[in-house]
Amino acid sequence: MKISLDSRDRELPSNRSAVRVPSSPILLVHAAQLLTLRGDSGARRGAQLRELAIIEDGAVLTADGKIVAVEATDQVSRHELARNAEEIDCSHNVVLPGFVDSHTHPAFTTPRLIDFEKRIDGASYEDIAAAGGGIRSSLRGVRESSRDELTSHIVGALEEMAVHGTTTAEAKSGYGLSVEAELKSLEAVREAARQWPGTVVPTLLGAHVVPPEFHDNREEYVRIVCEEMMPAAAKGNLAEFVDVFCERGAFTMEQAQRILRTAVRHQLGVRAHVCQLTPADLGSLLEFHPASLDHMDFVRDEDIAALAKADTVATLLPAANYFLGLQSFPPARKLIDSGVAVALATDYNPGTAPTTSMPFVLSAACTHMKMSPAEAISAATYNGACALRLQSRKGSLEAGKDADIAIFDATDYRELSYWFGVNRCRQSIAKGTWGSGR
Ligand code: NIG
Ligand code: FE
Repeated sequence: MKISLDSRDRELPSNRSAVRVPSSPILLVHAAQLLTLRGDSGARRGAQLRELAIIEDGAVLTADGKIVAVEATDQVSRHELARNAEEIDCSHNVVLPGFVDSHTHPAFTTPRLIDFEKRIDGASYEDIAAAGGGIRSSLRGVRESSRDELTSHIVGALEEMAVHGTTTAEAKSGYGLSVEAELKSLEAVREAARQWPGTVVPTLLGAHVVPPEFHDNREEYVRIVCEEMMPAAAKGNLAEFVDVFCERGAFTMEQAQRILRTAVRHQLGVRAHVCQLTPADLGSLLEFHPASLDHMDFVRDEDIAALAKADTVATLLPAANYFLGLQSFPPARKLIDSGVAVALATDYNPGTAPTTSMPFVLSAACTHMKMSPAEAISAATYNGACALRLQSRKGSLEAGKDADIAIFDATDYRELSYWFGVNRCRQSIAKGTWGSGR
């Protein structure tokens, strides 16, 4: 079955309904550039980040949700399964692995417009939080919402991500901040994951900030996170990771260590928000083998060498710096040139990064952190997968991996971070199922 190339004005099969059945074999042919990113087993560091393993006039064949073949078009077209496949001409397209957005906070209900205006008037993120705004002002919406209402907010965000080429997203709780509201948030994430063709990795972020009712008894809240929230999340299989905001005004290093130690005891993976506003001793967190340490704006020189040797990804979130109107950005060049495995993610959240767009993040990474377009793509795909410990299934186009693919209206991969403020993702495919397109 052949489908003409110029399908921009043609309805490709859409996945906006709730039932997801892996579609029949799909054959993408004649990609101007097929970015395979094949060839690694560990996170990419240094010069490896620039190697996209590009095939010109490339093709990908998928069946049953998996990639069956990735090669030049004339080779893949000879494959037996290609005969019955839905064939899509991609000669005006760059085709690449779907983005892995390894850091998002979609479990919220309302935008924080008052904070937004206050910041425009000169208040800082910390000023606003200290005055009762910030994360704490998102609590009420989540606590008062039903699980289904929260689910539909999350599904909306995931659909929007797919429109921009994302096929895997981490999804944190963190705006309920009570046992009940955090578990409800994680249940909503689980339900949203069922309704989206992509892959969702749930993270418990009960330790986002201390909620107002524990303002004078912060230790009691940490106890609840460790002794009530985490065991319940683990028992219900509701989270794969535990995250903590280790920062002035949130949780101390000692509290963060206690939280991560408990997570390890419950056999949950660990990750942390750290060095967003102030420097911290990363050695104290690396002992828990976090999959990722995120933000890293104020990473200390002495920690960079340790990170370069660790199996921990540094996930950089430049959309947050952009949205907070900061002049400085995380030191991507220093990290990459020192051998640290760097990933990029949106940090989608109502306070610092209300965007679902990985292409915007690529743009910010190139213009403000001086990452090359190739480095940005590796960081947003393969290394994003490593940050979720999913690299055996995600992050590159290789036979046997999940059929997670993004198709962009571009003929040179550098265009992905060159155009900004517009969406050039033509279509995404998640586990072999057509996702949303623009
Ligand atoms: O990653 N820093 C902590 N968490 C988020 C912000 C959350 C919010 O302000 O709602 C972040 O930037
Ligand atoms: Fe975050």
